[in-house]
Amino acid sequence: MTYQNYSLKQLQQIDAAHHLHPFTDHRELREAGSRIITHANGPFIYDADGTEILDGMAGLWCVNVGYGRDELADAAYAQMKELPYYNSFFKCSTPTPVLLSRKLAELAPKGVNQVFYGSSGSEANDTALRLVRHYWALEGKPQKNRIIARKMGYHGSTIAGTSLGGMEPMHKQLGGAVPNIVHVMMPYAYELALPGESDHDFGLRAAKAVEDAILEAGADKVAAFIGEPVMGAGGVKIPPMSYWPEVQRICRKYDVLLMLDEVITGYGRTGEWFAAQTFGIEPDIITTAKALTSGYQPLSALLVGDRIAATLVEKGGEFYHGYTYSGHPVACAVALKNLEIMEREGLVDRVRNDTGPYFAKALQDHIAGHDLVGEVRSIGLMGAIEIVRDKASKERFLPSGSAAVTVRDHAIAQGMMLRATGDTMILSPPLIWTRETIDMACERIAKALDLAQADLRKQ
Ligand SMILES: Cc1ncc(COP(=O)(O)O)c(C=O)c1O
Repeated sequence: MTYQNYSLKQLQQIDAAHHLHPFTDHRELREAGSRIITHANGPFIYDADGTEILDGMAGLWCVNVGYGRDELADAAYAQMKELPYYNSFFKCSTPTPVLLSRKLAELAPKGVNQVFYGSSGSEANDTALRLVRHYWALEGKPQKNRIIARKMGYHGSTIAGTSLGGMEPMHKQLGGAVPNIVHVMMPYAYELALPGESDHDFGLRAAKAVEDAILEAGADKVAAFIGEPVMGAGGVKIPPMSYWPEVQRICRKYDVLLMLDEVITGYGRTGEWFAAQTFGIEPDIITTAKALTSGYQPLSALLVGDRIAATLVEKGGEFYHGYTYSGHPVACAVALKNLEIMEREGLVDRVRNDTGPYFAKALQDHIAGHDLVGEVRSIGLMGAIEIVRDKASKERFLPSGSAAVTVRDHAIAQGMMLRATGDTMILSPPLIWTRETIDMACERIAKALDLAQADLRKQ
């Protein structure tokens, strides 16, 4: 590897001189110098100093089978030698996207049998937005084009993704969102439930916000509702079990399509292949990416339900949409091998039956009682820790978000990578984590919380 001819300092200098990072305050980063991750194995990543860090975020919610999988490298190598690229335009296909489509149809929830490929979650959501509006236009209802989404939702960073998402700071930099998208309340009981309101009732009230938005616009104007089954980047906000079935009931009542963004939750994260199965719903369209290849190659798959697909095929003519890398043969070869590994090792069942419940209990037993922690919650192998100044009143530290950053920095120093979003610490580890790895993570997080508490109390 040529980078080995460079010292850490040199790499940081070159990074600062030429590399603009995603979601980054560049001046701040350039002053501090970036952490250069050079290699990884199993659940661990290693930086250029050789420091071993337990990766509590599976990269960026994606490395579900863990690092250092020779089989995935071999699958990419073999495909690159045989056919590194050919497109799926001009009435052509290559073998791996064909076979992957059938595999995805087999794994997907009932009634979802067709696949449209891209390279990222953002692209998949862009396609999804175009497709649902196109669907209604083909059905003779072009005015049925409003999309209902949620505050604090995250659907990617392109103009369509940002517009669908409900992140205010992102909207402020947009200079004009895609029109006709409205955002309703999120199902976040910790902050939004009323005193004495049960989880169940709160879930129904949050779902009612979707109905209210449909009624306000008029059902004949609403194309679809989009949501992440569990809001990820917004802080692992897990809805009450009453929420999704009620949202589905409402969507069906008003003939509004149900779009699930499973870019994070797809491929085992919640203990089923898709969170739609965890929450018992049957969406019309599902966006997936990330763990489809465990992040070893960029690939997204938009899973399209039979209703939309039938109209597209029967009435659509040409759909003027697609990407150079739609159905990239190498990415699809890696995805096929990745799904094979997940099945062979029973990773999804393991999350559902063993590590998921163990993770939930470990967070309760070792983290929830800490003075800085207002709440812990998890589903499958994704979890959140709310950082508060006062447990009873849920008062936060000021400025907002600063305490979580303090915890995160201590965690990394303890060899534990986790993410701070707002005042929430989030975890989304590789699905290969065992009970021992979970214990190790909790030990390191508890230590980080102690150290952060000492810092924060000084303020
Ligand atoms: C739920 C969700 N949707 C979409 C995206 C965008 O995916 P990408 O960054 O691959 O464009 C993300 C990324 O984190 C996500 O969490």
